[in-house]
Amino acid sequence: METLDLKPGEHRCPGPSTRDLILADGCDVPPALLTESYEFQGDEDIAFDRYTSREFFELEMRKLWPRVWQWACRVEEVREAGDYVTYDIGPHSLLIMRGDDDVLRAFHNACLHRGTQLRPSDSAGFATELRCPYHGWTWTIEGGLKSIPCRWDFPHVKDENYSLPQAKVDVWGGFVFVNMDENAPPLADYLGILPDHLKDGWALEKRYVAIHVQKELPTNWKAAQEAFLEAYHVMETHTQNLPYAGDANAQYDIFGENVSRFVHTHGIPSPHYPVEMSEQDIADKMHLPPGTIVPEGSTARKVAASWRREALSNEWGVDLSNYSDSEMLDSIEYHLFPNMCMFPGVSLPMVYRFRPIGMDVGRTLFDILFLRPLPPGEDYREPAAPIRISAEQSYRDVPGMEGWLGATFDQDTNNLVQQYRGFHASKKAGQTLGNYQESRIRHLHRTIDRYLAVD
Ligand code: FES
Ligand SMILES: [Fe+2]
Repeated sequence: METLDLKPGEHRCPGPSTRDLILADGCDVPPALLTESYEFQGDEDIAFDRYTSREFFELEMRKLWPRVWQWACRVEEVREAGDYVTYDIGPHSLLIMRGDDDVLRAFHNACLHRGTQLRPSDSAGFATELRCPYHGWTWTIEGGLKSIPCRWDFPHVKDENYSLPQAKVDVWGGFVFVNMDENAPPLADYLGILPDHLKDGWALEKRYVAIHVQKELPTNWKAAQEAFLEAYHVMETHTQNLPYAGDANAQYDIFGENVSRFVHTHGIPSPHYPVEMSEQDIADKMHLPPGTIVPEGSTARKVAASWRREALSNEWGVDLSNYSDSEMLDSIEYHLFPNMCMFPGVSLPMVYRFRPIGMDVGRTLFDILFLRPLPPGEDYREPAAPIRISAEQSYRDVPGMEGWLGATFDQDTNNLVQQYRGFHASKKAGQTLGNYQESRIRHLHRTIDRYLAVD
């Protein structure tokens, strides 16, 4: 057979590729959407103790998290001088704050007297100075030492040595990123192709936070996000989607050390779906208004994209006519190392973040933001306050996610409990990944290993 000549990673599901399917729409699409960039990542098993061992977790806390650029908050949350947000990752805690000079800073959130956090974890608000709640040492919102009660007792404290230490801060896509490593490369370098791909209609700084959900997941932060890095699970986990999900046709890309992507088409039946479907049959499964007709010669994909374009334009007060069918329908997901996913498409404009909760190897806080385009003339909308749900709660409890969307997220996160239990129970030492469809998971681990290899 011809396929025997292929090297590992070169095999693909028979049938049209994502690129073929998008080109068949006949729409103008951003060049980024037609780019393909895959490289074989290796096929060794990935050890389960990378997810379960305290030793590995502590290594990540020491060598990985203090050295990577990570999304701490949205710019809208620290818009005015004095606005602050605390951002915790494991033992690390930063206080992101805008100064009177309009500069964003990230202070290490610990008093220079006896270490108390200046603001509690998971807090946000406004302050005209930073006063420690324990003995009242006080700093300006730019981080300079302002006052010490009983100053006579501290002749050894020199103001110039007692400014609050800072991590690096930069902004991209409306997100505030922080990096605790003084020698970190600039954020622009770290982002690789992202600024070039996520521009114009995909620019996340031109969007606002319409929904923000946080769910606690009983698994390691890597396993949590890996549930969202491949479409291979659609066949078994989201069986209801097979009539319109081109799961096995999905395209996987690796762009340098820190970025990967999948593009997963909708409105195309899965190659796994056993029943011959007419275009009308496909449309009938796609949550379109009842009675939607696919005209002769048209496709379910075209009809669904047109309906969404019109319905969402009206609902959001935004002109969506420049968006192609693919941008209206498909799951286009970028991953930025170590823990952020971004969907720059239109109808499901999510951003994900996966963070360990405290020092717990097996608990993760999963943030989902829905970033909708700002209507013309607006450059700011108050971000939606986060709704936090427990590990047992359904996403369908969250306003805006009541129907099939919440049910789909439930299917994804429900798997994680049993998977994490199985990590511990397994006689086999690690997981075996597909060379193509699960390549983004391996890419994540390869980049982790690069950080862990440096002392
Ligand atoms: S610990 Fe902060 S003032 Fe004493
Ligand atoms: Fe899923």
